[in-house]
Amino acid sequence: MHLSIITALAVLGSQLTNAATADEWRSRSIYQLITDRFAPPSDSAPARTQPLPLECNTQDQTWCGGTWLSIIDKLDYIQGMGFDAIWISPTSENIDFGTPYGFAYHGYWVNDVRNINQRFGSEDDLHTLVDEVHKRGMYIMVDVAINGIPSLSNSTIPPQGSMWTKKEQFHDFCQIDWSTELENDKQVKDCSLGDDKLWLLDVNTENTEVVTTLQSWISEYVAKYKIDGLRIDAAKHVPGAFWTGFCGASGVFCMGEVFDDRIDYTSAFQREKWMDSILGFPFYNGLSKAFSVEPHRNMSELTERIIGTLNSFPDPGVLGNFIENHDTPRFRNITADPRLVHNAMVGQFLFDGIPVLYYGQEQDMSWGLSDPHNRAALWTLGYENVTTVKQVARLNQIRSALIKGGATYNGETYLQARSTILANTTYDVAIRKGPIIMSLTNRGSPEEAASFSIENTGWKRGEALIDLISCLDFATGSGGSLSISYSRQGYGGLPYVFATVDDARHMGICNDVQLGIVHTNQTGKPYTSGSAVYAPSPVVGLVTGAITLLALFFL
Ligand SMILES: *[C@@H]1O[C@H](CO)[C@@H](O)[C@H](O)[C@H]1NC(C)=O
Ligand SMILES: *[C@@H]1O[C@H](CO)[C@@H](O)[C@H](O)[C@H]1NC(C)=O
Ligand SMILES: *[C@@H]1O[C@H](CO)[C@@H](O)[C@H](O)[C@H]1NC(C)=O
Ligand SMILES: *[C@@H]1O[C@H](CO)[C@@H](O)[C@H](O)[C@H]1NC(C)=O
Ligand SMILES: *[C@@H]1O[C@H](CO)[C@@H](O)[C@H](O)[C@H]1NC(C)=O
Ligand SMILES: *[C@@H]1O[C@H](CO)[C@@H](O)[C@H](O)[C@H]1NC(C)=O
Repeated sequence: MHLSIITALAVLGSQLTNAATADEWRSRSIYQLITDRFAPPSDSAPARTQPLPLECNTQDQTWCGGTWLSIIDKLDYIQGMGFDAIWISPTSENIDFGTPYGFAYHGYWVNDVRNINQRFGSEDDLHTLVDEVHKRGMYIMVDVAINGIPSLSNSTIPPQGSMWTKKEQFHDFCQIDWSTELENDKQVKDCSLGDDKLWLLDVNTENTEVVTTLQSWISEYVAKYKIDGLRIDAAKHVPGAFWTGFCGASGVFCMGEVFDDRIDYTSAFQREKWMDSILGFPFYNGLSKAFSVEPHRNMSELTERIIGTLNSFPDPGVLGNFIENHDTPRFRNITADPRLVHNAMVGQFLFDGIPVLYYGQEQDMSWGLSDPHNRAALWTLGYENVTTVKQVARLNQIRSALIKGGATYNGETYLQARSTILANTTYDVAIRKGPIIMSLTNRGSPEEAASFSIENTGWKRGEALIDLISCLDFATGSGGSLSISYSRQGYGGLPYVFATVDDARHMGICNDVQLGIVHTNQTGKPYTSGSAVYAPSPVVGLVTGAITLLALFFL
């Protein structure tokens, strides 16, 4: 077939995109946003609720004006960083009354899934957003919240405005006792989330009418709006069997929120085929404890969860990897050192799984230890091309080039290969995933007289390597070992992503002059280095020499 026809078909195919499977999501990279907070209303995207100030005080817990149409204005920004999927907050009708926790600006207080949330636009607007996303060859994932119906009281069942109008469509009221959570999962499933200021009355997802209503709704909804995937809110609080039917009816990829650190418990969602994927809370906890919680950063917390995740999930390659979301602290809120964040981000983007970045992470949003502060309006910061935006773009570029370039190691591509830990110390870990080795450290920015040795990289002695982030060159020593020094000024605490120079060249990474990416030190200033590039023994070859010169020039 002629190339242009293939291209045309590919474009057409992407425009018709819907009903994407887990396998189709595997190679994607997701940008998570809260519709109300991501992009401000503008001339092309009028606000539905006027008038709204552009200031957005998170403490007020009310609408700040973002809509489905305003998201379209900023799709270039998202795509410019290399994301090829967005996850938006729920689109269903919410309660509209005020509560002690403010208004339902976030969209998670759904009282009737069957109706569209007029606060964020019309049905046509949602169609328009989906079409614009698909035109770019991107996927759209929508957040779905069906577990509880908001209510100010624990006795008015069913609550007013609820899509469920019969008492038997709810579980008898009880409150989750978190102190006995681990021993008693039944109450986690059947009792209500919330507290006496605002309950989320627990829907009886064993009731046949509830099950069939929700199944036919999701199947129609996904078809009507051409949704490519679902993020399932509070998946932990509904029996797994319900999800098998619900996700099955949707016909698309499902990624559930299972807010839990236990590997056995979380991996059951995949093992028991309740849904395709979950957000990787154990891996998140590992990254968070290894790279953020000061002053006791602990690398074993990460290695332990890496091993657990790889051993227990049948398909870790479709888990959602994040370092912050609307329920956790902003990573920058608990980590001052940008190099620690950069290390965590390499794990987030390149470990087994699908990268999921919560809007604002790329802009170093540091306000927000918890809800509601971790949901600030992005527009108050602008959409600047800051260092972290460039780092995100670089990591997406590396991941996408690894996937498209098809480089292999031991016959396996990057996506096929499972990560393995090659070496670890109290402060460092080296992970091979197919053709790359990531080396992460939680030493932090200041340089120190220390180094990290990987005894056996799996590459032969004298293999010319390149760090795909900085384009600095390296080479393996005897027995295929590799040593990374943190002692040179400006080289403290950096993450590395090693590939062979050959693979890098085939992928088109580090062989052009567009290497705008530089590491930053604690002041956030780009580091410039005029001296020789750090390259451990043995002497690097001519090709790497040339690249060294390029790297030198652009660093
Ligand atoms: C319902 O809420 C009231 C008022 O907060 C409380 O006294 C009562 O114990 C609650 N009922 C149950 C079953 O928890
Ligand atoms: C680090 O984490 C591991 C695994 O959770 C734990 O066993 C160990 O005690 C921790 N070390 C320190 C110094 O806190
Ligand atoms: C973290 O967020 C809280 C608000 O939730 C804020 O008070 C605090 O100053 C923030 N810390 C940093 C380092 O930004
Ligand atoms: C390396 O990781 C393993 C698995 O978590 C852990 O048992 C071991 O203690 C770690 N080694 C060092 C030196 O921290
Ligand atoms: C952001 O910076 C990178 C690297 O300098 C550059 O390649 C990219 O075009 C910039 N993007 C925008 C939108 O200016
Ligand atoms: C950060 O880099 C600047 C130069 O860009 C340098 O003057 C400063 O000393 C560095 N700070 C640290 C903590 O390394």
